[in-house]
Amino acid sequence: MHLYPVMLRYRLKTLRHYTPEIKMRWIVTSAWPYINAVPHLGTLVQVLSSDVYARYRRKKGDDVVFVSGSDEHGTPIEIEAVRKGINPKELTDKMHQYVSNLFERFGISYDNYTRTESPVHVDFVRSFYMRVYENGHIFEEEIEQLYCPKDNMYLPDRFVVGTCPHCGYESAHGDQCDKCGRLLTPTELIDPKCALCGSKPEIRRTKHWFFDLPKFSDDLREYILKNEELPENARTMSLSMIDDGLRPRSVTRDNKWGIPAPFPGAEGKTIYVWMEAVLGYVSAVKEYFQRIGKPEEFERFWKSGETRSIYFIGKDNIPFHTLIFPALLMASEDGYVLPYNVASTEFLLYEGDKFSKRRRWGIWLDEALELLPPDYWRFYMIYIRPETKDANFMWEDFEAKINNELNDIIGNLVHRVLTFISSRYNGVVPEAELDDESRAMLERAKEVAKRIEDNLEKIKLRDALRELLEMARLGNRFFNSREPWKDISENKERADSTILASYILIKALACYMHVFMPFSAEKLWYMMGLEGKPPTFDRAFELVKNINLKEIEPLFRKVKREELLNKLKKVREEGRILSAQEF
Ligand code: MF3
Ligand code: ZN
Repeated sequence: MHLYPVMLRYRLKTLRHYTPEIKMRWIVTSAWPYINAVPHLGTLVQVLSSDVYARYRRKKGDDVVFVSGSDEHGTPIEIEAVRKGINPKELTDKMHQYVSNLFERFGISYDNYTRTESPVHVDFVRSFYMRVYENGHIFEEEIEQLYCPKDNMYLPDRFVVGTCPHCGYESAHGDQCDKCGRLLTPTELIDPKCALCGSKPEIRRTKHWFFDLPKFSDDLREYILKNEELPENARTMSLSMIDDGLRPRSVTRDNKWGIPAPFPGAEGKTIYVWMEAVLGYVSAVKEYFQRIGKPEEFERFWKSGETRSIYFIGKDNIPFHTLIFPALLMASEDGYVLPYNVASTEFLLYEGDKFSKRRRWGIWLDEALELLPPDYWRFYMIYIRPETKDANFMWEDFEAKINNELNDIIGNLVHRVLTFISSRYNGVVPEAELDDESRAMLERAKEVAKRIEDNLEKIKLRDALRELLEMARLGNRFFNSREPWKDISENKERADSTILASYILIKALACYMHVFMPFSAEKLWYMMGLEGKPPTFDRAFELVKNINLKEIEPLFRKVKREELLNKLKKVREEGRILSAQEF
């Protein structure tokens, strides 16, 4: 049963012969959010992580395509539409618009944020599955399924809840246990209930089409063992699932809402949401290149062994990205590159408890933007990014970090240096011979910059952000100890050196900051009298000449949590924004 190992081995070999110096092609993605509701800060963590990473790769000069989209199908949306008494498409049209706009306002630099109802995606998925079918990896079988006699429908996936047979968690869904992460089938649940009406379902027989996942066990094991980039948690979890024995995964559903299954005899059935949404990573790149008039680039990206693809997801989505998606790519026998890295985050809590729409516990993205500009959130969410353990959003800590670090360290440095140039140098950056101490400071800053890059490369985004603060601290210390306000009348040359070096430092700071806080970095760049946008990292410390500053204003301000909480309360009461109307 080894239909593709040669191809697979070839691709894994090229991965290992990677030299970081060479410009690379990258596909950067984040999990496609279900758009049954406005996303909250927990979702933003994944989206932001992928954005920081995509921006990092571009700053290294790599060739990047950054994609994601709205996951429109599936039971959560159907359930929400049933609840609202509208057609699912009506709901997703509105939500897709709303959510894409939110991501744009947060500065997420997607090259293509599309949707699973996009015709390119629908066509792609249908022909992809016909290929997998023709390759002999899909079979049909009559199975027993849960059926709700009250709602007159089959109950796939999230339409049924019950107790997990593995860990005993009582609110496990038909497709997956949110507690232990295991993939499930609805009939495995102990004491199942219809998610819509709570009644006890009966068992009926119906025909479905299955993807022969077990066939790929050996190749998946090999892929995971050889792919050293995959983080430890993803490797361990995936290998243990393979060792437990993989089972065929059903591709079809009896739901009306979804992509029509293309298999002969499967009329009236749709494709299971996960089995098509993951293919969005491929179709979104295809759509992107069609849109910019370079359709041939699609194959060059997805089918050349040198392209790396990276997936920013929550830890509960690991098996779909390390097992099901790669197996599907293998099964197409079409030469698609397998995932290079799957960067998952742990959960984010809000004031010590899980985000919950039902209990109105958390912050939703449209609310967040009513309270503060996007960079404040971008800063703090990366600052507390749940990289190795769950993280907790706490207002008290938010206030402290924004005030004492973002504002006092970065904001103040920028403000002191620029207002000094403004008032003492008439807004003209002095041309100076840098003295030894100034050059030494910049050398140290370059070491910090290198550490920012190393951390970004290893997807240690928290550490990278802390090094960015370190760069600003270095600037503050230098400025303080050199006391240019004294030198300016007594030792002008020394003052000039201090100011030029400080200016170069904040220019580099803007360049590195651009990855984390793009709006503030661009504003800073403009105030500094520089053209265009902050450039690639290799030009961060370049010297500049003949610079006139623009008008200076503070980059950040301090926040008070009582004020923010009051405003939040008001925003919720007003009901202007969508998330406020949902409650
Ligand atoms: N919609 C899923 C969720 O929110 C994630 C889908 S990721 C994709 O959990 F791979 F399917 F796109
Ligand atoms: Zn479980």
